[in-house]
Amino acid sequence: MARLGVNIDHVATVREARKAKQPDPIAAAVLAELGGADGIVVHLREDRRHIHDRDLKILRETIQTKLDLEMAATDEMVRIALEVKPEMVTFVPERRQELTTEGGLNVVSNRDELQKAIDLLHDGGIEVSLFIDPDPAQIKEAHKVSADLIEIHTGPYANSRGKDRRTELNQILEAARLAAKLGMGVNAGHGLDYQNVAAVARIPEIEELNIGHSIIARAVLVGMERAVREMKERIR
Ligand code: PXP
Repeated sequence: MARLGVNIDHVATVREARKAKQPDPIAAAVLAELGGADGIVVHLREDRRHIHDRDLKILRETIQTKLDLEMAATDEMVRIALEVKPEMVTFVPERRQELTTEGGLNVVSNRDELQKAIDLLHDGGIEVSLFIDPDPAQIKEAHKVSADLIEIHTGPYANSRGKDRRTELNQILEAARLAAKLGMGVNAGHGLDYQNVAAVARIPEIEELNIGHSIIARAVLVGMERAVREMKERIR
């Protein structure tokens, strides 16, 4: 069964709506773990629009599972990761005005910059994942820059319907097989919810699913622990 990494960014989004102390993403992380989360994921953005440096530091001290830090491949973020030492860093592209991450990394055209950042994190004992589209050229390049894992972008699958959805799913399946064949770990995420998660969870090469918005949206109504438990049931 695929593991579940719970992204708690949007707990911080609600807090930042009032620049208040509540709800605290640290409390959400503890409850997510009680509900069965296998890892906690946060995206520290350059503009700090939701997760703050303080959150990252306290999460590092608090969580019992593993910490996956999503971030852009900038000098500032690499320095923070080397200080905080999450188990894993996932590099994502970042644009200031975007509502959420819009596409996978272009590993082919950012090869040198990514290679430098990956080497620094590896020297610090941190595993590195690259968030990419299910594109064979990107997957092969991820392998060349010695990424430990890839995270396949499932957004286009989540946003499509009918025949298009089957095509998208098939691309995810092929991408997962290629990455596994090259010896990389395979995660997947973005746009996954209680209805569309099962088909992706069934792909045997996929080891972990990273899910945020749909779990936090449900948690607002039924509570964090239950929302995580119900997602784990869907994955199972
Ligand atoms: N994986 C990555 C790399 C992401 O950037 C995000 C969004 O922060 C997610 C997974 C989770 O996506 P969602 O919030 O749509 O579940």
